[in-house]
Amino acid sequence: MKQAHPTPSDVFNNEDSNTSANPHIDNVIATRLSRRSMILGSAGAAATLLGGTALTSYAATSGSSMGTASMTAPISSLGFTAVGKSLADQVVVASGYKIQVLYALGDPLTANTPAFKNDGTDALFEQRSGDHHDGMEWFGLDADGKPSATSTTRALLAINHEATTDEKLSSFFIHANGGASTLPRPAGEVDKELAIHGLSVVEIEAKGGQWQYNAASGLNRRVTAMTDVMLTGPAKGSAHLVTKFSPDATRARGTLNNCGTGKTPWGTFVSGEENWNGYFFRDAKDDERRGKKDKQVAALVRYGRKAGDPSRHGWESAGADDKFVRWNNGALAANAQSDYRNEMNTFGYVVEMDAYDSRMAVRKRTGLGRFAHESVSFAKPVVGQPVVAYMGDDARGEYMYKFVSAAVWDAADATPANRLGAGDKYLDQGTLFAARFKEDGSGEWLELSMANPYVAAYPDFEFTSNADIAIFTRLAADAANATRMDRPEWGGINPRTGELYMTLTNNSNRTVDGDLGLDAANPRYYTDMKGSKESKGNVHGHIIRLGEAKPTDRAFKWDIFLFSSEADADKSRINLSNLSDDNDLSAPDGLVFSPATGLCWIQTDDGAYTDKTNCMLLAAVPGKVGDGEAKTLSYKRSDGSEKRVTTFIGKSQSPDVLKRFLVGPKDCEITGLCETPDGKAMFINIQHPGEGTKMTDIGNPAKYTSQWPANAGYGAGKRPRSATIVITKIDGGVIGS
Ligand code: FEO
Ligand code: CA
Ligand code: CA
Repeated sequence: MKQAHPTPSDVFNNEDSNTSANPHIDNVIATRLSRRSMILGSAGAAATLLGGTALTSYAATSGSSMGTASMTAPISSLGFTAVGKSLADQVVVASGYKIQVLYALGDPLTANTPAFKNDGTDALFEQRSGDHHDGMEWFGLDADGKPSATSTTRALLAINHEATTDEKLSSFFIHANGGASTLPRPAGEVDKELAIHGLSVVEIEAKGGQWQYNAASGLNRRVTAMTDVMLTGPAKGSAHLVTKFSPDATRARGTLNNCGTGKTPWGTFVSGEENWNGYFFRDAKDDERRGKKDKQVAALVRYGRKAGDPSRHGWESAGADDKFVRWNNGALAANAQSDYRNEMNTFGYVVEMDAYDSRMAVRKRTGLGRFAHESVSFAKPVVGQPVVAYMGDDARGEYMYKFVSAAVWDAADATPANRLGAGDKYLDQGTLFAARFKEDGSGEWLELSMANPYVAAYPDFEFTSNADIAIFTRLAADAANATRMDRPEWGGINPRTGELYMTLTNNSNRTVDGDLGLDAANPRYYTDMKGSKESKGNVHGHIIRLGEAKPTDRAFKWDIFLFSSEADADKSRINLSNLSDDNDLSAPDGLVFSPATGLCWIQTDDGAYTDKTNCMLLAAVPGKVGDGEAKTLSYKRSDGSEKRVTTFIGKSQSPDVLKRFLVGPKDCEITGLCETPDGKAMFINIQHPGEGTKMTDIGNPAKYTSQWPANAGYGAGKRPRSATIVITKIDGGVIGS
């Protein structure tokens, strides 16, 4: 989701609802460290005193237990020439590579669905590709169409359709005249908008070196904002999930704003619901009607849904049909069984889908917590140990999380007969943790459960069960005193080391001191100019990484892998990773490690550097936590006194180890990345090209800010479309080699 361009999407990305003070009480936290983590942490703590460089010993001595994976085609130096920054309305890829558009908004997913006319008159979106392609995972198929871990020529792609390009309520590119920009919204327009959200599964195949998607495949699937789904895990049956649709709180409808993805060790697709709060409406009297005793008033505000705020699309206004009324989450009837006051509580989860079997209902895994979910990164499972997954909450000042399953890994579950049954086993019982980053380069995972007295006795919100923690996770992390981060986006596990990398895309709310003051893990505050527009805070974002002796540990070491920056920015304060024109970037968002090569692929969703370049994809050869040095930054507080912040920076980024590989068309973000198992074909998504187009220009294609992919020869019409592309090396080699 693009942030800097002021569209309605931005207004409704309410990533700004964490007003918790979370005072610096590291001394209190230290006394709460378990004996085990104190012992484990002591070696790291000693190393930290010597500066960040000493941290390497931590990883080096424990590498065998860190869940490293084997790679089929490891790459240790980047074999392509960097692509320059680009403002062209085309995909520009490194020399020696080619791209092909594969699957775009509106493309048919059944044999009988008419071709997409792309003029706003198309219907049947439940049978077409959704909009705003985002996270994506590869599910190989053999020649018989059965699951295959080794196939490189046939597969299913499971894709998130996060949102839609909109202005003044309307998803204007899918309506003939741009649609209605005032309330009430026409029912026919809302039906289309409900259907372009959700997930899709699409079969693809390579024939004679050309990839194509198969519109007639029986394995294709759509999940929309209206599809029946199951609620599972600790919050299933909770009074806070009771709706008129599901009075026993076991079912819900749809998935929304699906951003990052993941692939489970048992072979299913997981997808994070991100900015779902903006789709709901409750009138200005709703707090009063609910009364002070309803603790959900506090929760609704903490989750960015203030009484009286307008909804993103006005879906609640489209008529008396239940499919529209459900978007009004006010307490309007006598009880929760009779209205949709709890409907918003049925969003904000990780959803799990069996990409191979469209008969199986999608499951919302409440055990992984409720927040603005991005990706889910699974540590390599170890037989006899719990399954561990890492997640971020993409909002300003929100937290990083990890989930540790109650069940321990059984190798037979790598190919289970019932894939979602394995999901039930590993994701429905377990413990959530939120990350606390300390100033010495260490950190602690704080338990979010009723066993944590800070949560159980939190004065600002009454938790009565682990179901409450699963639904109101942000408040539990507030109570536990987690560290407020610069918008955690995607995570990835380095297959060489088992370390977690997570993008912190930017944070316009970060200040030197005060409410969201600088800390060691979020240490930059600066001014960036885009033409005459001045932005302050952490404008360009950074990528943090964590190393643990074992994924189940509560103690970790951390450093900053990469500080994003413009190349010509001050190297002592802003361009701390020594970026050059070959690898400078802003707003890292997608982050995926190639299982084949071990390269770290970084994707941007930027609005700050877009005067110089469209969004991009870069490749990095990662190092490990502690391969750089400590660095102290000096700032002036509001009272004029000096504030010094010491952080830990990974080794500086020469173009040998970080290079720009691809730049997208105008107004897009680059997102979603998966590969064939041999690393020879890479699939990425181009999301919302032309997003900056004015709705009033819908009849004038010359004024669209992008006409991609039509201008690349794909499809009818000139309206821009989100799409999946495939990248291959012209000589047939491994991507990045
Ligand atoms: Fe959908 Fe946080 O990007
Ligand atoms: Ca700038
Ligand atoms: Ca994202």
